[in-house]
Amino acid sequence: MSREKKKPRNLREALKGKLSKREFGYLVKSFDSVGNIAVIEIPPELEKKEKIIGEALIEINPRFETVCKIAGAHKGAFRVQPVKVIAGKRNKTALYIESGCRMKVDLGKVFFSPRLSHERERIGKLIKKGEVVGAFFAGVGPFPLVFAKNSPMKKAVAIELNPHAVKLMRENIVLNKVQEKIEPVLGDVNKLASTTFKGKFDRAVMPLPKDAGGFLEATMLSIKPSGGIIHFYQFSPIDDPFTGPLKKIRETAAKLGLKTRVLRKKMVRSFSAQTIQVVLDFKVKRA
Ligand SMILES: C[S@@+](CC[C@H](N)C(=O)[O-])C[C@H]1O[C@@H](n2cnc3c(N)ncnc32)[C@H](O)[C@@H]1O
Repeated sequence: MSREKKKPRNLREALKGKLSKREFGYLVKSFDSVGNIAVIEIPPELEKKEKIIGEALIEINPRFETVCKIAGAHKGAFRVQPVKVIAGKRNKTALYIESGCRMKVDLGKVFFSPRLSHERERIGKLIKKGEVVGAFFAGVGPFPLVFAKNSPMKKAVAIELNPHAVKLMRENIVLNKVQEKIEPVLGDVNKLASTTFKGKFDRAVMPLPKDAGGFLEATMLSIKPSGGIIHFYQFSPIDDPFTGPLKKIRETAAKLGLKTRVLRKKMVRSFSAQTIQVVLDFKVKRA
């Protein structure tokens, strides 16, 4: 009777006999999957075992060709997080698929997170026929691409400050054949939304949870005078997630003489022990 080696069902099983009990205690329970590349956190206590951990991830999930470890925090205006290849092919360009859109993502050179995919899908379903959407802080284009393929919008203007992300966004627009639907723009949301795009949008999306408050005035100005909707993402304290963002919305609207009405307050995902990411959908129009 042949004794075939059974395929491990998860990372822990794949690492059985390769990590000590103490080392298992440091192993994280989840990792991000960006198409053909997995991104995992390796605590300092497991650094010597990182190659073994990466190879085990590929063993249980053969669609991963590369495993990277997080090599630092998100930093700077571009919110880029350094990563290092620990197993598989030495390639940091992922091909990621979401809601029927294919996207090239250069890990370590642009911000990208698969964790907001449900938000992109949710907002895509809210967009009405003919809307013109401001897709701010667009990165390599996940929000506008999902809208272009899954909503009846007229078009999105996708503004992004990181030139490398804009280059990839242009490639992704062609890859998905949505050149008619997305206008990629390299630049600063604060400058462009309050000038070139003043009064132009039916809806604006603001996925910059750390700093979005500083862009709220320009974003409100970018909405058509007849009114529109803003999706405002923020990091908030877990015990009182909505007071801060609501105050910011009311103060900014009062300063501009605008009226707002909150349509939805939602906890999006936990970020750390004390912090969660929230989104507030609100209507804004002339008072
Ligand atoms: C949190 S990331 C979101 C990227 C993308 N929407 C996604 O979900 O993958 C924020 C993005 O905003 C860009 N950014 C930061 N400040 C900006 C500004 N003043 N104007 C335009 N884009 C900016 C960063 O380069 C980064 O790509």
